Amino acid sequence: MCGIVGYIGFRSAREVLLSSLRRLEYRGYDSAGVAIVADEIKVEKRRGSIDNLKVDFDGSLGIGHTRWATHGIPSDKNAHPFLDCQGKLAIVHNGIIENYLSLREELIKKGHKFVSDTDSELIAHLIEEYYQGDLKDAFFKAIRKLKGSFAIAAIHQDERKILAAKNESPLVIGIGDHENFLASDIPAFLAYTNRVIVLKDKEVCELTDDFVQIYDFDEKEVRRDVEYINWSLEDAEKSGYEHFMLKEIFEQPIAVDNTIHSLISRNDLDLEFDSMVIVACGTSYHAGLVGKYIMEELLHVPVYVYYASEYRYREVLENSLTLLITQSGETADTIAAARKAMAAGNTTLAITNVVGSSITNYVDMVLYTSAGPEIGVAATKTFTAQLASLYYFAIEAARNKMLISPMRYESLLNTLRKVPYYIEKTLSVEPRIIKEAKKIANSKDIFFIARGINYPIALEGALKMKEISYIHAEGYPAGELKHGPLALIEEGVPVVTLVPVDKTYEKMLSNIKEVSARKAYVIALSPSEEVGKYVDSLIKVPDIDPLFSPFVNVVALQLLSYHTARILGRNIDKPRNLAKSVTVE
Ligand code: M6R
Repeated sequence: MCGIVGYIGFRSAREVLLSSLRRLEYRGYDSAGVAIVADEIKVEKRRGSIDNLKVDFDGSLGIGHTRWATHGIPSDKNAHPFLDCQGKLAIVHNGIIENYLSLREELIKKGHKFVSDTDSELIAHLIEEYYQGDLKDAFFKAIRKLKGSFAIAAIHQDERKILAAKNESPLVIGIGDHENFLASDIPAFLAYTNRVIVLKDKEVCELTDDFVQIYDFDEKEVRRDVEYINWSLEDAEKSGYEHFMLKEIFEQPIAVDNTIHSLISRNDLDLEFDSMVIVACGTSYHAGLVGKYIMEELLHVPVYVYYASEYRYREVLENSLTLLITQSGETADTIAAARKAMAAGNTTLAITNVVGSSITNYVDMVLYTSAGPEIGVAATKTFTAQLASLYYFAIEAARNKMLISPMRYESLLNTLRKVPYYIEKTLSVEPRIIKEAKKIANSKDIFFIARGINYPIALEGALKMKEISYIHAEGYPAGELKHGPLALIEEGVPVVTLVPVDKTYEKMLSNIKEVSARKAYVIALSPSEEVGKYVDSLIKVPDIDPLFSPFVNVVALQLLSYHTARILGRNIDKPRNLAKSVTVE
């Protein structure tokens, strides 16, 4: 997990590389660096963010990197780019080289001197080993020796070109006029061009000022169409919001609306299945848990939900439709799970937000959420877009299998279409939520409790709170409190309760009384005025069909964690130790 960039053309490479890297900082920010061919290759790299770099040289050809540490601690010496022994060629790498120990040993025996603790550095030495005046030839020989996941870019001071390779880590080419770009993600170069080619696994590209050629690993030329990106850079920027996370929370009505519209035109979702397995990580896993409730409610099929990291090591259920949910499409555990499900002969369907992302290569079908780029590390709009996809899928499947009447179908679809409106109304409750954030910001622990379809939302509320405010938070099924966690409830401990008016209502009121009796500070999210009598603070949320209440409750909880973290002055868009896409297992 890292971001890499490359530029060749007529502009200042320093400016292009630094501005491109800033747009990739969500991929990691432990260290950063650039290598630019001035007369010779010059490198500047340092621990910490891109702002720490002091690049006092320039040219029109270069590569850059922003790192999320895997092999070797975050430090100046482990920052990319890496040079060969002669300092004539430089590389940047995103991914993990699995056979690095044996390759490194071989290269050391041949006299190469290593200066870092990373797996990546050996790539520079390996290319050097093969280099006889032709970077392309040496590059192909080197990458054929590598095992693992990688997006690599390499330059040599004596040749005006960039060589790059992709295997299981993303890499995109930006096509310009008399200039070309390379990056881990499109926003990196979108200020310069909207013409892109998304590389596939086991492909190499050669970029010069006026030429882009793609090859497979056997050096056979590959033809690829250019795609035109129709979202603007502004879509990927903060548009006046203080943080990307807040902007993305407020973009949810449009994200959900776009997602529903893009799915309505699909006519290939009539799949046969008797059971379903949902596999995902983090917030996407919580979407999967909501998916379980909605699928079981409407389709009456058993649905099993697994963390991708756990699914890898268990027996695979055969003849199950397997749904892989990952906003980035790059999560290594989820990709590994997709491969495992495919190998077992299951039909696989990915729900992802990133067109052409790695997971799309390993599944039978893809449902794209249309949430637009999400930059904040905390997933928000991609989560509600995932929910919209899962609800839509369940409603359509229930109709196709004739499990619901045409009237019920129309009513469910109508409510789903109105979700953006209800989210909009929830967003207007922000001032109330800010008041509550002020009250809880200095707490040591916060509990989130709910039942039924909102239990996963309690988990998600706790995850968001932990992730960006660093306050310890736990989500529980409300009925489980008395089996242990109640021991932690004492005077003033905030307990956030989700109270839709459905079959869980009365029981939720009893659970509220349990924690109130222990003098907890109880906040409720509910459309019911009555709940106010039993809690310290009622945040009234819109009165939506309770089956759809996860949409409004999660938006309120996202705002609660955002404002709590803001009061505490946290680095909201880049929480410590985390990165946007987790491409290591
Ligand atoms: O890209 P993915 O949906 O596969 O990511 C999964 C998790 O890493 C992700 O949801 C993580 O939990 C978020 N930072 C939560 O806000």
